[in-house]
Amino acid sequence: MSTSSPKSMDAIMALCKRRGFIFQASDIYGGINGFWDYGPLGAQLKKNLRDAWWQDMILNPCWGRKGPNGDRVKCVPLETCIIQHPKVWEASGHVGGFNDPMVDCKETKGRYRYDHVQVYVPESGDPSDKPVFAYVGDQPSEAKQKKKAEKTFGAIKSVLLSSIPQPWTRVIGPDADKPGTLTEPRMFNLMFDTITGAIRDESNKVYLRPETAQGVFLHFKNVADTSRVKIPFGIGNTGRSFRNEVTPRNFTFRSREFEQAELEFFCHPDESVAWYQFWRDFRMEWWKTMGLAGENLILREHDKNELSHYSQGTSDVEYRFPFTAPGFGELEGIAHRGNYDLTQHAKHSGSKLEYFDTDRGELLPNGAKKGERYIPHCIEPAAGLDRGALALICEGYTKDESRPSPEFLKLHPRIAPIKAAVFPLVAKDGMPEVGEKLHAELFRKFGHSGFIEFDEKQSIGKRYARMDEGGCPFCFTIDGDTLTDQTVTCRDRDSGAQQRIPISKVSEFLSEKLGM
Ligand code: GAP
Repeated sequence: MSTSSPKSMDAIMALCKRRGFIFQASDIYGGINGFWDYGPLGAQLKKNLRDAWWQDMILNPCWGRKGPNGDRVKCVPLETCIIQHPKVWEASGHVGGFNDPMVDCKETKGRYRYDHVQVYVPESGDPSDKPVFAYVGDQPSEAKQKKKAEKTFGAIKSVLLSSIPQPWTRVIGPDADKPGTLTEPRMFNLMFDTITGAIRDESNKVYLRPETAQGVFLHFKNVADTSRVKIPFGIGNTGRSFRNEVTPRNFTFRSREFEQAELEFFCHPDESVAWYQFWRDFRMEWWKTMGLAGENLILREHDKNELSHYSQGTSDVEYRFPFTAPGFGELEGIAHRGNYDLTQHAKHSGSKLEYFDTDRGELLPNGAKKGERYIPHCIEPAAGLDRGALALICEGYTKDESRPSPEFLKLHPRIAPIKAAVFPLVAKDGMPEVGEKLHAELFRKFGHSGFIEFDEKQSIGKRYARMDEGGCPFCFTIDGDTLTDQTVTCRDRDSGAQQRIPISKVSEFLSEKLGM
């Protein structure tokens, strides 16, 4: 995607609906803001992304690479509940601090996050005593808003990021015409709550988790004591998280229910900076192998003043979505969390969450180490699977009017929901039988990783077009020649090029292309 002509989000959303990738949740009731469902192709695409994460982070972490300590990286999985004891969220800081500042526009009834407001300072003024103009970040119309600001106030001297003390009474809401329509910003906790049990009172209030990470901290000790893992090691957790976002927007990018894939990697404090750098670099490399390589993907290291007090570093892997272009939107954050979370949970629960490291400490006369007791530091690569799937769809979306399908999806074969299609050219002369046999063979071998389509209806051009739109990388066609020379046509989605290969080699060919 070039920076000058972002792809059309409307066209991408239309394709997602047309081909069953993503639907608005509760569609037939008019939808519900901030919730999205995945259709057959989207559900498989997301599963493939989750499986790739699981394979490369848990089963074979970092493709078998060694970490900064010289050993192979070790990780184990965990699956934890969406609802936990409410004290968990007090300890983690989410009850007290997981807030967004919210403003309402009295004129347009729009609601905005005030920390997304950028303030335009007119050439002649300063924001504390002169009118200023707001643009809400995350929206595609920054240039338009700036033009509007210049029209209202003349030349613009600078653009500030909002902070609560900004004089909101002098800020023009993004959809309003004059200043003074915004309410005073108020803090809004993002956690959804509900009640457990039959008695609906405050004492039974619980929360839907806003991140999967905390489940891991709660079981750090259980896992360390039962899994024969030794520090350094990681614990991965994937699943649904919930945030009552003030302004859900940009398709699935900012939703109220979404899926995370988080790893908490525990290590000795002295090695934590080296591990932080290791994970930061690996996660960037990993997203590239998913098909996001190029100028649309960046690794952004946070400035020191953006960091939490306990953190020695945070980086975001960011993708240039069509709605953020020319800017970028976060796909994954990699954070050095220090020992903050374990310390907090130890304090609030009264449990000891220290680790006794038998590989450290002075050497004893019997040849063993004396051991060292410490609270491990944690490096957290926290990815969003919905944002990941959306980035892959945006990156793969390609327009080419000269093709049977003028729009198609160049998805990486590993992630593509349809792995291959088998087409008898016509439904007669023994072609369907040969095709069914090939389909059954491919299904046995690759059916666990995605759909293997079989289609004998419609023109071959229409069948190719359907597969192109669904992102299927390879189609195999049985024609008259197959019956005499045992070869099939293999069509490549991206180039449209066709080659003949022996039918007996199709499985091997696909195996190599899919990397499995
Ligand atoms: N445990 C750390 C944590 O949750 P985060 O940056 O808030 O960090 C991690 O979330 C990832 O989860 C983000 O990089 C993003 O991909 C995804 N995510 C967060 N909020 C989201 C939302 N409202 N909608 C979709 N994905 C979201």
